[in-house]
Amino acid sequence: MRAWPDPDEAAEGPATPDATLRELRDRGIDLDPVPAGQHRHGDEVHASDHAHPHVHSAPDEPPIIGIVGAGAVGTALGVALSHAGWTVGAVASRDAARRERFRSLVPGARGFAEATALLDEVELIILAVPDDAIPRLAGGLRMYSGQAMIHTSGALGAEVLGPAMAAGTQVGAFHPLVAFADTELAVAALHGATVAIEGDDQLADLLARMADALGAHPVRLAPGSKSAYHAAAVLAAGGFVALLDAIAELGRVAGLDEAGSLQIYGRLAEQTLANARALGIARALTGPITRGDVGTLERHLETLRAHAPDVLPLYAAAAEREIRLAEGRGVLAPEPAAAMRRSLARQV
Ligand SMILES: NC(=O)c1ccc[n+]([C@@H]2O[C@H](COP(=O)([O-])OP(=O)(O)OC[C@H]3O[C@@H](n4cnc5c(N)ncnc54)[C@H](OP(=O)(O)O)[C@@H]3O)[C@@H](O)[C@H]2O)c1
Repeated sequence: MRAWPDPDEAAEGPATPDATLRELRDRGIDLDPVPAGQHRHGDEVHASDHAHPHVHSAPDEPPIIGIVGAGAVGTALGVALSHAGWTVGAVASRDAARRERFRSLVPGARGFAEATALLDEVELIILAVPDDAIPRLAGGLRMYSGQAMIHTSGALGAEVLGPAMAAGTQVGAFHPLVAFADTELAVAALHGATVAIEGDDQLADLLARMADALGAHPVRLAPGSKSAYHAAAVLAAGGFVALLDAIAELGRVAGLDEAGSLQIYGRLAEQTLANARALGIARALTGPITRGDVGTLERHLETLRAHAPDVLPLYAAAAEREIRLAEGRGVLAPEPAAAMRRSLARQV
């Protein structure tokens, strides 16, 4: 129930909000009615039959989870954990529609607009908010003893959650290597995905169990390696999409629509990935550069300059890397390698 101001302390006069509230109360009007014996938790009113300041799971049971951020990751994790039998007790999202969607997908979760409210409700708090928002959000939350907080960022370490710590609390990270583009697809993709976990031994054990429960594979990264690990992930997901976009742009020049490009070149990409898995990356390299075909490279550069100049830098950067790979494999002689490098240098 909303706390009313003390009438003795409230300012006099009808113009102030406190005075207006007092007047309404004096007339017996409750703006936020909650029946006796009940109280409000975010979007829900229910019986005052549990202890505060926070709840506890039964011994040997997984902790009660609260998720801050009903975005792509927060919602998919909430659904997946709930399906796995872990209790997702609450969600905090500033957006009422996102909160409701989360609650419709994760039965039993209470909805809050404020992340601070979760501290009274759960034992393990998952911050699934944009990387830049994590330190500020953690700075505004102070955990109770026995609670733990993790984030799902691949770019940041667990130490950014330090400001939320108090005696007897722990912080960590749980970064699933999944492209969270769609809730249903992401929930399915969590099965078999790799999850990088961070935290003290006790929390890391719990997070490893959480990953196992999702059917994912937990890994602990060597200290200081998270940024490189994440940059590689960004190349594999966003970088690959950028490559597909460039492929589709060239496909359009050749008269193909996007579906056509995905059909034709997607198959080639899958075959290349299968080759790399079977033979290793260097031996999977095929194409004009492995043959030292300088004329073909020059014709491509000319076409790109004329019809898809945006794609030129990407093509040239990939070609540079291919030359190095071909040299390393011993299939490209120094002379054509140097000629190709000269052609590329003229373009950039
Ligand atoms: N997307 C991926 O594929 C992926 C994969 C692995 C890890 N991650 C990591 O997971 C985290 C969340 O990413 P996401 O893709 O789920 O982001 P998202 O879809 O943009 O969702 C972010 C959520 O955080 C809330 N939020 C935004 N700014 C906030 C702020 N300043 N304070 C409090 N809450 C704020 C949002 O707003 P409301 O409060 O309005 O709901 C939204 O619910 C990031 O750390 C990201 O690096 C993402």
